[in-house]
Amino acid sequence: MMAFDTIVNLIYLIGTLLIVLGLRKLGSPDTARRGNIEAGIGMGLGILAALIARLPDGDNNYGWIVGGALVGSTIGWVAARKVKMTAMPQMVSIFNGFGGATAVLLAMVELKHYYDGKPMAGTGLVVTLAALIIGGVSFTGSMLAYLKLDGKVKDKNVTFKGQNTVNLVLLLIMLAAAVYLYMQGTRGSMALALVVMLLSLVYGFSFVAPIGGADMPVVISLLNSFTGLSAASAGLIYGNLAMIVGGIFVGAAGTILTVQMCNAMNRSLFNVILGGFGGGAASAAGATEGQTVRQIGPTDLAIQLYYSNSVIFVPGYGLAVAQAQKALKELDDLLSENGVDVKYAIHPVAGRMPGHMNVLLAEADVPYPKLLDLDEANAAFPNTDVVVIVGANDVVNPAAKDDPSSPIYGMPILDVLAAKNTVVIKRSLSPGYAGIPNPLFYHPKNAMLFGDAKAMITEVAAEVKNL
Ligand code: TAP
Repeated sequence: MMAFDTIVNLIYLIGTLLIVLGLRKLGSPDTARRGNIEAGIGMGLGILAALIARLPDGDNNYGWIVGGALVGSTIGWVAARKVKMTAMPQMVSIFNGFGGATAVLLAMVELKHYYDGKPMAGTGLVVTLAALIIGGVSFTGSMLAYLKLDGKVKDKNVTFKGQNTVNLVLLLIMLAAAVYLYMQGTRGSMALALVVMLLSLVYGFSFVAPIGGADMPVVISLLNSFTGLSAASAGLIYGNLAMIVGGIFVGAAGTILTVQMCNAMNRSLFNVILGGFGGGAASAAGATEGQTVRQIGPTDLAIQLYYSNSVIFVPGYGLAVAQAQKALKELDDLLSENGVDVKYAIHPVAGRMPGHMNVLLAEADVPYPKLLDLDEANAAFPNTDVVVIVGANDVVNPAAKDDPSSPIYGMPILDVLAAKNTVVIKRSLSPGYAGIPNPLFYHPKNAMLFGDAKAMITEVAAEVKNL
């Protein structure tokens, strides 16, 4: 008969495989739902294996484990059911923070055992301290990120002059304290461990404080990778392969996402972390002075769209703010019924979080094949009659291509001016996230339809119905 420990390891292996396969399926909207369920089952198997595994001291503490799992699962279930699609980044932040907090608690418990006389290999202590520090930074950093995203804390209330220098000093003190604790070995104490923990909590807060609220998605993804690393460190403490693999996945995924977001904005991670993006492009502002814009009304746009062969919508952050996705889908249906070829161009950083536009459009039941990514859209624009930009701004700013002095110069954009005509729906000429003017608004090919995206799209759809 198979040894009990082998069975446990086999369950861990199947669980891990399911997580890997599930993650793979998350790559496409068609398979994402199934992938999520499979990865969830994999995680469940991991928990099951951890529950039945024999511990060296034979004490599995089922009361605490089941009690904790029940309370945690209930809170997670209720929160996930209640959260609005637009508040998803906040929820991800909180969950991420809890992951970090767990690593801190595990590390503190292990240190307590160690100072009480339980032996730990030299590398064990390094790993435990790594879990403590990274988990601590991730916990308070994620909590502040949540508060900023939710508008409960304003950037100006947590920033001050010289903050980056203070942060660097804090980081060095925290690392020095951790190295000192390591060098002390068994002569260290819980009091010292507590100091290291507090320093990591303070650093997590001060690290996120100067980063602009709108840069939070990048930071959350970075903190996510920290949490993964702290979980992998905790897995090393216990020699638990499932925890190590899971942690490494989260760490790698978070890192890849962070790098991709920075690339898509053409900014370095350093630039994001040091904060202070946007607002200061005086030279670019001067470039649009005295220029005029062509303004149209909903009826004009309705006629233009109705008699077009091909239309591409470019959704942006304003679509999310106005919650105009369902109205847009209605307009799409009306036009498609009339034989117009309707597509959507999705820029990788349109909106405020990765996949923001995909989620909104999926919520409105827009079929996935209608969505074009950056390269597909840029290839399609020259054969498009009208491109309608709905609450997007930076992602269609031609300055990224033409103006070397622009802060977004080099950022890949949707080259909408390659189409025959463009129409921008937004409330004013004010800049977007990057805080810089957009020459597209003044281009002879472009017309502006001023107003709230949902109200305007609804009016255009009503006009199309009358045609
Ligand atoms: P933005 O450049 O931020 O422009 C959004 C525009 O929507 C604004 O100019 C605003 O103009 C308009 N708007 C707001 N409320 C509206 C409403 N109710 N109805 C109609 N329009 C409305 O958005 P984007 O083009 O999507 O670009 C995203 C930006 O976020 C990029 O700079 C990107 O780098 C940054 N960013 C994205 C991410 C991710 S992962 N997506 C992460 C970090 C940063 P009005 O006020 O005139 O209406």
